[in-house]
Amino acid sequence: MEIRKAVLPVAGLGTRFLPATKAQPKEMLPIVDKPLVQYAIEEVEASGIPLAILVTGRGKDAIEDHFDVSFELEHMLAGRGKEQLLAQVRSISRLVQMIYVRQKNPLGLGHAILVAKDMVGEEPFAVLLSDDIIDARNPCLKQMIDVFSRYGSSVVAIQRVEKNAVSSYGIIKGSAVADSDWSGRLFRVADMVEKPDPRDAPSNLAIIGRYILTPSIFKELSSTRRGAGAEIQLTDALRRLLVKEPVYGYIFEGRRYDAGDKLGFLEATVEMALKRPELGKPFRKYLKGLKL
Ligand code: UTP
Repeated sequence: MEIRKAVLPVAGLGTRFLPATKAQPKEMLPIVDKPLVQYAIEEVEASGIPLAILVTGRGKDAIEDHFDVSFELEHMLAGRGKEQLLAQVRSISRLVQMIYVRQKNPLGLGHAILVAKDMVGEEPFAVLLSDDIIDARNPCLKQMIDVFSRYGSSVVAIQRVEKNAVSSYGIIKGSAVADSDWSGRLFRVADMVEKPDPRDAPSNLAIIGRYILTPSIFKELSSTRRGAGAEIQLTDALRRLLVKEPVYGYIFEGRRYDAGDKLGFLEATVEMALKRPELGKPFRKYLKGLKL
């Protein structure tokens, strides 16, 4: 079955970025000159998914405006002959089709996905967390869709992390799948633990913000009670799902930045700026000049 829909939960409060997120969505914070959420939507488009469902909340209107046509801005840019900027601004509103649904209370990632249930319907779908920016030649989501096409089961993106970092992630316990196309990269998930103590972690394979889920996840989410932080946790629902049907963990190819964290955000900013044709050279020179 094709993956035709991507759910982007963007209703979180973004407390780690206060005060910047007091009056603007975390997802609109820019890496160089592009908001986090635009990186995610561009990955959706590059992965061949035509529809994005954004789960928003109070104070998130800027996201909707960003992907809308801005008549005044386009008119002004056209009048001033700024063709390149005009093309750039226009392309944002033409990325993929988008629909918005509100999560009235930020009751967690699992709850945010559940809010999109009626829009997704009875078909497999993707979930992207825009905090995770993934720089990859073949988009991460596209790689996961390829795994899904072969196995027809849910796939979570994973990466190896330092032993002492496991307590910041959902960690999987799994066994390697013998498949020459993804040798050493594909695991059948046997269990997962949310934010374990490094001493109790079953592995160092951490779940990051990309998922392909079968619609059966909705049933599990509806019957999942509020867990850690009084939130409905996606990990809890995934644990219930993997008892009933296979779930795979896939080590994607590419570089991931955790832009939901201040240090990760800075790393993404520096590395993305270095890659920009117009900025890379002078920025590298500036960095080299810093007496660190
Ligand atoms: P985070 O755990 O990063 O939470 O959510 P947050 O509120 O965005 O940020 P901090 O931790 O307070 O700084 C992961 C993703 O899930 C979404 C967020 O918008 C983010 O994309 N989310 C989280 C929701 O949509 N609703 C929620 O109730 C919680």
